[in-house]
Amino acid sequence: MAPFASTALEHDAVLVGPGTADDAGVYAFGDTALVATADFITPVCDDPYRFGRVAAANSLSDVYAMGASPLFALNLCCFPDVEVPEGTFEAILEGSADVLAEAGCVLLGGHSVLDPELKFGLAVVGQVDPGRMLTNAGAEPGQHLILTKPLGTGVVLNGFKGDELDAAGLEPVLVSMEQLNDRAARLALEHGATACTDVTGFGLAGHAMEMARASEVGLRVRFADLPAHDAFYEMCRRGVTTGSTKANREALPELDVVADLDGHQEELLVDPQTSGGLLVAVPAGRSDALLDRLREAYPHSACIGEVVTGPERLEIV
Ligand code: CO
Ligand code: CO
Ligand code: CO
Repeated sequence: MAPFASTALEHDAVLVGPGTADDAGVYAFGDTALVATADFITPVCDDPYRFGRVAAANSLSDVYAMGASPLFALNLCCFPDVEVPEGTFEAILEGSADVLAEAGCVLLGGHSVLDPELKFGLAVVGQVDPGRMLTNAGAEPGQHLILTKPLGTGVVLNGFKGDELDAAGLEPVLVSMEQLNDRAARLALEHGATACTDVTGFGLAGHAMEMARASEVGLRVRFADLPAHDAFYEMCRRGVTTGSTKANREALPELDVVADLDGHQEELLVDPQTSGGLLVAVPAGRSDALLDRLREAYPHSACIGEVVTGPERLEIV
């Protein structure tokens, strides 16, 4: 979910609204709470089936980032009028359906509009125990920060689109983007995590800063421990960047880069992610145990830093 200025009526049932830039909204419903989010993206590869899988994993991720379980989803289809190879739209929907099945999430319907540029995603509703939600606001000084997937999808995807990278080079990035964040969220909860967000369009630094602001803490991240996709720096050297990188950096006056980084390394911090990993704040004493379990499913998981007392800022050391 992107941060929107709230024009909605104040309402007792709204447990998480637009004010904290959280991944999804949360609405009290009886003894439980409903989590709602919507997300759609442009194609990330030439294979429509794989694109459908990535788009679904990307849309479901905001539900997992709240510590919730997905219940049902609606297709959001912006499909072009122009000639596309026969079966393209069907393959996108099939890829999405397979990932929804893996997530135990039911498809209830959806909506299509004509759009010159193909986009696809889902609106998803999930369920969460309001006492065990993972919001941006729960990080506490002393906790460790864990990241579950490598960074760099923005530049790598653009490298592929610009013919700087072949399909084999893109493959590990596709595999990572297709992977659900379901297990990561479940393991984080089991290990006492109190704050979580997924890393998407604003990059690691943007989403980490949202957590710092909502929790009124500082975050200290060790650059050397950040996992990155293999092709990221090669694409940077070839001059590949993204349309959001500069804006993401300019939106972060509180970003304090203490480490001696070159331009490409700084770009990794704000590279916009598609279907990125979870950034989790977990009690320090449990982070090693969480990492051991996470690495069984997410081999690049890393402890990347710690939560420190305010002021609200992000320090890269
Ligand atoms: Co989102
Ligand atoms: Co999110
Ligand atoms: Co969250």
